[in-house]
Amino acid sequence: MRIYEKDSVVFLVMIWPSNFHVHWRQIIHLMLTVPLTAKQFHYAMGMLNLKVPLIHPLDANDYGRLAMIEGRKINPNFMSYVALYLTDNTTFEDIDIAVSLDHVLAAKLYPFGATTNSDRGVTNLKKMWPVFARMEEKGFPICLHGEVTDPKIALYDRERVFVDTVLVEIHKVFPRLRIILEHVSTKEGAQFVMDTPNNVGGTVAPQYMLCNCNDVYLWPTRNCFPMINSPSDQEAVIYFAKNCEQAFAGTDSAPWGDDRKFCDGGKGGCLTEPYAVPLYAEAFYRADAVDDRFEQFMSVRGPKFYGLEVPEDTMTLVRKSIEIKHSIQIDSGNMYATPFMAGEVLRWSIDSSI
Ligand code: NCD
Ligand code: ZN
Repeated sequence: MRIYEKDSVVFLVMIWPSNFHVHWRQIIHLMLTVPLTAKQFHYAMGMLNLKVPLIHPLDANDYGRLAMIEGRKINPNFMSYVALYLTDNTTFEDIDIAVSLDHVLAAKLYPFGATTNSDRGVTNLKKMWPVFARMEEKGFPICLHGEVTDPKIALYDRERVFVDTVLVEIHKVFPRLRIILEHVSTKEGAQFVMDTPNNVGGTVAPQYMLCNCNDVYLWPTRNCFPMINSPSDQEAVIYFAKNCEQAFAGTDSAPWGDDRKFCDGGKGGCLTEPYAVPLYAEAFYRADAVDDRFEQFMSVRGPKFYGLEVPEDTMTLVRKSIEIKHSIQIDSGNMYATPFMAGEVLRWSIDSSI
């Protein structure tokens, strides 16, 4: 990474970033949602919790390929992957097929009922042991939505309890399984990854670095699963993103039309993708870490974790403020969504993209 000044303006040149957790939604949405990713990221991993989740490897692969076709219209280097949605009925043969496909890079565990479209998610973890055993044997990673769904557990404790019970057990039974704890949001989540060997990683979404629960109260655009947690959890997530070799970027951008977000029972998920790189840059700026740690987190550790080549091309950011729009079109009809931190000003923007 290189920072230089020209005509009193500061520029930053970094390896192209990658995003290992994003929601592009239904196939009809790809033409608007994928370009938001492709103009900022080299590799991306799309999640398959569509209205009808993609639970078959070939369907998953087709979706990944369609995303690549959309993305390459604006970024010829763009490469999209997906994480196969695991259900109670996933077999180890499904894993064998998934391993052989170009766009399926991992599988994703949604505990039943934990989040959006998780009603096909896994109800009995023990029954998945043969599938996990096959994944461990094949070196095929599992992405975890790390929340328990016991109604007796407060929303704010769902990740901690998952880590202390489910994650600890999976890691104990399958010590070589490559695991990614998605959207790390608590000190327990961060600590677990930091304490385990490097076959375990964690993604961090920008909202968990930029906000804590005090910033979320009364802000529907900041509601997401897991919940944005306490100030000390935020501090731990920031430390984790900055310092842990196993931490990397995954925006968890989750587009919802305003009608689904601004109502009682509104949906969880933050639309972070339109300003993803500037949001992360802002988070690292506030953490006094716009340096090699920023580049490692954004561009190097994720591809390395997934065994992908670290991109060679570079992106230039500029120390020029950018104001987040209040509304973004997310489908070709009339659906608009309000981005995370709408109306706020970020200190770094992208200078040269594609
Ligand atoms: C995501 C979504 O809307 O698809 N929502 C969220 O709050 N993060 C699903 C998910 O990643 O949990
Ligand atoms: Zn997600």
